[in-house]
Formats: sequence, structure tokens, C-alpha cells
Amino acid sequence: MEILIRDTPEEGAQVAAKLFKKILSTRPQPVIGLATGGTPLRLYRELIRMHQSGELSFKDCTSFNLDEYVGLPPEDERSYHHYMRSNLFDQVDIDPSRIHLPDGCAGDLRQACRDYEKKIKEFGGIDLQVLGIGANGHIGFNEPTGSFASRTWVKILSEQTIKDNAIYFDDPEEVPRHVVTMGIATVMETRHCLLLANGAKKADAVRRMIEGPVSASCPASILQMHKRVTIVLDEEAAYLLTFKDHYKWVEGNKLDWQKYD
Ligand code: PGA
Repeated sequence: MEILIRDTPEEGAQVAAKLFKKILSTRPQPVIGLATGGTPLRLYRELIRMHQSGELSFKDCTSFNLDEYVGLPPEDERSYHHYMRSNLFDQVDIDPSRIHLPDGCAGDLRQACRDYEKKIKEFGGIDLQVLGIGANGHIGFNEPTGSFASRTWVKILSEQTIKDNAIYFDDPEEVPRHVVTMGIATVMETRHCLLLANGAKKADAVRRMIEGPVSASCPASILQMHKRVTIVLDEEAAYLLTFKDHYKWVEGNKLDWQKYD
């Protein structure tokens, strides 16, 4: 795992955006996997800024989002379709026909999940997958003890995640209990994962992901087995890491071509 620790979330977003740009520039038709939630917002703002200054284009990109709530239509302000439009897609030059999110309102959700997996394969798989991490160690909406072999499917949110996400809803009772999410096996097939985490609230999950045993009780710990993962942390999210100094040492000794900034 490549661990990059920055003083602030803003600095983390900047290095993540540079990595994003580097990977996009190596592929003629990049396929990007995107995440929602509070954490990637700074990254998306930085990508928009790069786009506006002419440094970055999304015109040849195809995107696949990690997850969506069951029962929230795309026009619902709390849906991830809406989040992606307002926080990224409407402000960059991505071709709308190349945008994909799970359909949480499909008549046949199970078939829609199978079709989503098929679509990802048709586009040749995901080059770069952006991830956040839940305070309980989830990635996407793959909650603790879910199977590492899981594929895009309908999942039930844990009570903690419902509580964590209630800030985006007027009433906690309105948070859908069901979601469609890429599975752990789907994420593990992506070519490069870029996971961002900020704040002390994430520190325990971050420690378990990086330094704990690989266990379904912390789904993100499976990333220890992924061939290419970059984890960008702020100091608060990194504060429980035993080998923090080692990660900084490794970064300080990178060769030029291994650096993003
Ligand atoms: P957050 O969510 O970015 O809103 O903290 C991350 C996640 O649940 O994956």
C-alpha cells in the first residue's frame, strides 16, 4: 500500500488530484470509478479547478459510481446521481452518455446489478477507483462481515452507517436502509484504488485497514491484498498508525517518477 500523509485534507485533495491526472494521462480512454460522501468533495473541487484551468479533460473518460440508495430517483437531491451532477459532472466536460451509476429504482434490482457488472467489463474494467472509508471500515456500502467475494448487489446498511448518513436527510428515518453497491470483488478488480480519509473519526478504521489483520470485520482491510492502492490521509486520520514514521520515510525517499507532486 502506498500511504501519503498530509497536514490537512486540502493538501491531501491536491496530491490525490495530481495522482488522478497522472493516471488519466496514461490512458486514451480512461475508466474511472467514483465515490460520494463528504470526503471526495475536496478532490472533486480540485479536479474541477484543474479542468477550468485547462490542465485536465474528462471528455474521453467513462465513469462508474460505487453505489446508490434504493428508492431515491436521480432527481432526488439526496441521491448520489444528484450529488455527482452537482459536485462534478455538471462542471466538467464528461460525456453524459458515458456516466454510469447503479440504478436504485430499477424495476428488477437484481438484474440491474448483474447488468452493472457486465457494463464495467464491457468497458475493460476500472483504471482508477476513488474510495472513502466508513467509520466502521466499509468501502462502497460493503458493511462489516460482508463477503470479500461480493459483486454489485443490493445490501442492507448497518445502523451506524444510517446514523452517519442521517446528516444528509431531514429525518434519520428517511435514510434508506437498502442500497446498491459495487461488491468487494468488483473493487478488487480495479487497476488502482485511491482511498481518501480525513479526521479523527476515521482513525480507528484507517488503522484497521492498513495495519490490522485482513478481516471481513473491517472490509477495507482487503485492500492490503490489492495490487495497487494509494491511501491519502490527513494527520488526524493517520494518528493511530504504528508505522506512520515509516510511511513518511518511504514517501520522502521516492524516486522522481514515483511522485505525484
Ligand atoms: P464520508 O463517507 O466521506 O461521508 O465520511 C465515507 C464512506 O462512508 O465511505
